[in-house]
Amino acid sequence: MHYFVKGWWTTLAVDTELIKRRYNRTATFYDLMDCMISPALKKKVIGRVRGDVLEVGVGTGANLPFYPPGCRVTGIDFSPAMLARAKKKAEAMHLPVTLLEMDVENLRFPDRSFDTVVATCVFCSVPDPVRGLAEIGRVCKADGQIILLEHVRSANPVIGKIMDILNPLSVNLIGSNINRDTLANIEKAGLEIKSVEDYTAKLIKLVAVRP
Ligand SMILES: C[S@@+](CC[C@H](N)C(=O)[O-])C[C@H]1O[C@@H](n2cnc3c(N)ncnc32)[C@H](O)[C@@H]1O
Repeated sequence: MHYFVKGWWTTLAVDTELIKRRYNRTATFYDLMDCMISPALKKKVIGRVRGDVLEVGVGTGANLPFYPPGCRVTGIDFSPAMLARAKKKAEAMHLPVTLLEMDVENLRFPDRSFDTVVATCVFCSVPDPVRGLAEIGRVCKADGQIILLEHVRSANPVIGKIMDILNPLSVNLIGSNINRDTLANIEKAGLEIKSVEDYTAKLIKLVAVRP
């Protein structure tokens, strides 16, 4: 997957390997800089999952402590370095979770495998977010639930423009786009938005999606 990120001073050519490398590098300090989502909000989001759960872009495992008992959790991520940290966390907490290296754009699960698919701050980074979203729709059961917590481009035109300008910097440093329209991407993927809850000046959205 190749795409271009345009800023006012540069156009950055991006591919999947670049984003993976960025997260392999970010893994060392990710937990220290991860302050965008409060633990209380993470707990609220993860408290809604049930049954067989797939967490995509599990990262360093920041959400693992919040899973309710009784869930069977599978976490995937395409960055081996992020995943290694999640594995350490899961072992230290004796959490029964299956962690696999996998790209959300090509999930190696049969159709309709999971009761819940959850992601927090992932579709800002996925190189082809529409393809990744279509994949989570495919692996979620028809009566299942998809729960996404994502930061998005501001609806304020001035702030949105500033985010556009700074976006190449963010992608190049960390791997995350700060100006994605994830609600539009969900619809482009053929999924139906059931509800949206706004947080932090409407920059963070908790979205319930029908598979
Ligand atoms: C900003 S981090 C969020 C990590 C975690 N969900 C959290 O809330 O702390 C984004 C994560 O998505 C992963 N990611 C990005 N694109 C991916 C893809 N195509 N397939 C799997 N994981 C991906 C990155 O490797 C990274 O671990």
